[in-house]
Amino acid sequence: MTYACIKGTGGYLPEKVLTNFDLEKMVDTTDQWIVERTGIHRRHIAAVGETALSMAEQAAQIAIADAGLEARDVGLIIVATTTPEKMFPSTACLLQQRLQIAGCPAFDLNSAACAGFIYALAVADQFIRNNTVKNALVIGSEVMSKVLDWNDRSTCILFGDGAGAVVLGASDSPGIVSTHLHADGTHKDVLSLGIGLGKPLAVEEALYLKMSGNQLFKLAVKRLGDLFDETLAANGLDRSSVDWLIPHQANIRIIQAMAKKLNLPLERVAITLQDQGNTSSASIPLALDKAIREKKIKRGDRLMLESFGGGLAWGSALIKY
Ligand code: ACO
Repeated sequence: MTYACIKGTGGYLPEKVLTNFDLEKMVDTTDQWIVERTGIHRRHIAAVGETALSMAEQAAQIAIADAGLEARDVGLIIVATTTPEKMFPSTACLLQQRLQIAGCPAFDLNSAACAGFIYALAVADQFIRNNTVKNALVIGSEVMSKVLDWNDRSTCILFGDGAGAVVLGASDSPGIVSTHLHADGTHKDVLSLGIGLGKPLAVEEALYLKMSGNQLFKLAVKRLGDLFDETLAANGLDRSSVDWLIPHQANIRIIQAMAKKLNLPLERVAITLQDQGNTSSASIPLALDKAIREKKIKRGDRLMLESFGGGLAWGSALIKY
């Protein structure tokens, strides 16, 4: 059997930081409201000229070096992003050109919103398990600041920009133990970003992320709770076998509910949202990278990754690090 294991990680955050106090000057909100309802204190915002591509490149270079590899060792690039450089060429192809590794498959996965990284990880896992590629670069990169209505206090306080990257490599032991993906289009209106070539939309709907936060909150808690049960049952494990939770960084109250479900103290949860907000598909690889670099997560630890986003789309990955 061939498995995909994590060989290296990398992350990139733009230099500019926007605090809750800065937001107080922009919309009718307070630091207290944002901290109490979300857990977020600040977030990074891309500079003019910084894009999903430029951030992905930074994170990728770090992850490749961390894996002890050269760019030419990468046999597959998948970039999860809902804020791509262009419709096409894909951000992944543009990155491949920058890395000067023409020839390997490279594509974006832009259809699973905040669950994009887990979806991308699951796809790369299949390529490696099938012995189609040896090393895969899986990235989440987002400039959420460009799709926010900065007059809408219910959404603009939640998100940030950044990129996280993971290099997966073939191994004869896990690695990625299992991945579990789901979607439910009946909830298509709970979270959406209208940009596209469908029927004409009002400018507001087309350009900005729209969300029914309260509804999404309840759906996320229910779906992710069920997903943990499914993931553990598929592997004949119980919740005491999980060492670390690496959750999507949307809201501290959702993360707390998920930690409780797994019976994990918050010290065993990778949390970055206080400093980064919700970076959509970048949030999991950024949290993973930080916890590894801080030497909290150790080789052999069992990790539960989970995320949910527009679609709805949601998924988990159980990983032996
Ligand atoms: N500052 C002050 N007041 C605010 C703000 C703000 N920034 N935003 C909303 N309010 C007000 C509302 O207008 C409302 O006022 P009202 O009672 O007078 O009508 C009140 O606060 C409560 O609003 P709710 O939306 O009910 O607040 P809630 O406790 O649900 O928190 C939040 C809102 C933080 C958005 C929460 O619902 C949440 O985190 N939901 C999940 C969001 C999420 O997971 N997003 C992930 C997206 S993943 C992806 O794919 C991009």
